[in-house]
Amino acid sequence: MKDFERWGALPVHSRRAMVATADADATEAAVTVLREGGNVIDAAVTAAFALSVTQPGMCGLGGGGHLLARFADGAGLCLDFREQAPLAASRDMFAGAPPEASMMGWRAAAVPGAVKGLAAAHRRAGSLPWARLLAPAIRLAAEGHAVGYLRSEMLAGSGVLPHDLESYRIFLRNGRPFQPGEILRQPELAATLDRIARNGADEFYRGATADELARACAAHGGAITKADLAAYACDERQPLIRPYRDREVWTMPPSSAGGVGLLQILGILEGTEFAADGPLSSAFLHWMAEAMRRAFADRAARIGDPAFIAVPEELLDPAHLARLRASIDPSRATPSASLAGCPLCPAEVREAPCTTHVSILDSAGNAAALTFTLNGRYGAGVTVPGLGFLLNNDMNNFAVRPGTPNLYGVVHGEANAIAPGKRPLSSMAPTIVCRAGQAEIVMGTPGGPTIVTALAQALLYMTEFDWNPQDAVNVPKIHHQWMPDVLYVERGFAADITRALAARGHRLESKPSLTDMNAVVRRGGCLEGAADCRREGRAAGI
Ligand code: DON
Repeated sequence: MKDFERWGALPVHSRRAMVATADADATEAAVTVLREGGNVIDAAVTAAFALSVTQPGMCGLGGGGHLLARFADGAGLCLDFREQAPLAASRDMFAGAPPEASMMGWRAAAVPGAVKGLAAAHRRAGSLPWARLLAPAIRLAAEGHAVGYLRSEMLAGSGVLPHDLESYRIFLRNGRPFQPGEILRQPELAATLDRIARNGADEFYRGATADELARACAAHGGAITKADLAAYACDERQPLIRPYRDREVWTMPPSSAGGVGLLQILGILEGTEFAADGPLSSAFLHWMAEAMRRAFADRAARIGDPAFIAVPEELLDPAHLARLRASIDPSRATPSASLAGCPLCPAEVREAPCTTHVSILDSAGNAAALTFTLNGRYGAGVTVPGLGFLLNNDMNNFAVRPGTPNLYGVVHGEANAIAPGKRPLSSMAPTIVCRAGQAEIVMGTPGGPTIVTALAQALLYMTEFDWNPQDAVNVPKIHHQWMPDVLYVERGFAADITRALAARGHRLESKPSLTDMNAVVRRGGCLEGAADCRREGRAAGI
């Protein structure tokens, strides 16, 4: 069906290249780089540095992430620049500490990977000079940028920023919260970015910035040392690639559990009648929820940093997926407690929409997807004095106490226990879908565990029902993560649909907003870009 024949929003169209990010300034910076002849990696790195300035609650130099690219010649690039536990970390370092110890303050921070990851991307596949890619970020930090409506609300509502003097000074102006449209200037961050532009990533891991970061950590009881920074490595991995019907899905392997989960959900659903009643039907949503439940039960017990844990190949084995598929009752919800996972513990999904995602695709078929985080909103809430960036709280993505839930209510077992140098398990899943040997869809989103389930839904709306990316991104989503045994539904589903799901035995809870997805798609000879209607993102092309 043509877009004009159905309801829905229209994506942005262009012919040569398209960028979608969570922020207009970052999209503009990336588009300018493409216009100057930069490639998709140049544009992704530029956008990521710009987002570090304009979205300080979502990502930044003190965080880490994952980048997946697929080039027109079929080659891939998959970079894992997830944070790592400091060398002084240990399995029980948070035992006996208050629950917030792994969520806020200096000890919640793992060793940041962002600068190394972005530098590795540029070294491997960038084409413009490194300093050119940082220039927009330096300008946005030095001259300032207008704080949007949503961001002014987030700053004012932050629970962590008021606890740290430097964060309180920079981001809350010592108690005069930013009104929408007011300018946030970050001179210390501009100076840090400028040194990185001049000295490269070594500035952050071995140079004056490393000295300052290690000194601040020592002064405030944090665990990150100069030795941690010097030892930090970005891992180049093989993308996870699996067929889905006539497509090929490229996504992130562990240390993210996101890609495995996405492929499990697709693999379980393929070969069922899940789409027979059409999009948004209760049957479609039931099948989806049951596939999600099973993928998260596997994740809880069996996935961790591959440098420490042998992640079982079986998880994506067709026979295993067939067993999971066969265990689904099309008319009844399966109680989560009847599925194997790690030791059970009641948990709640808590609100923390943060993290950021960049999608870029050009007409030659070069694609870049980058998801990048501080974990919780404003990370650990602490800003490194003199350096101007917030530190992550990704230590909380470990099973801080195996078997008990983390910030997102996700339960993990020993596979994701803390160990020195280990990467905490992530849900981030930058994803590229190929058709006929060419990149067709580039997508990703924040949302903690809802990353996995939201991507599965958007992908299926686009591939099963040929929805345009804007509708697929905007449509209300559901989420199930095995534990707690609850089906989360975003606002916007009709009451007869939620009643039909409850009648199948699902325990429903309503959620206000689950994602900030950005997608770019080749469709009908055009490139189409879609930024999530839930937030302040922007798609633009050349
Ligand atoms: O890597 C992860 O799974 C988390 N640190 C991502 C956090 C996130 O997406 C929060 N957004 N709502």
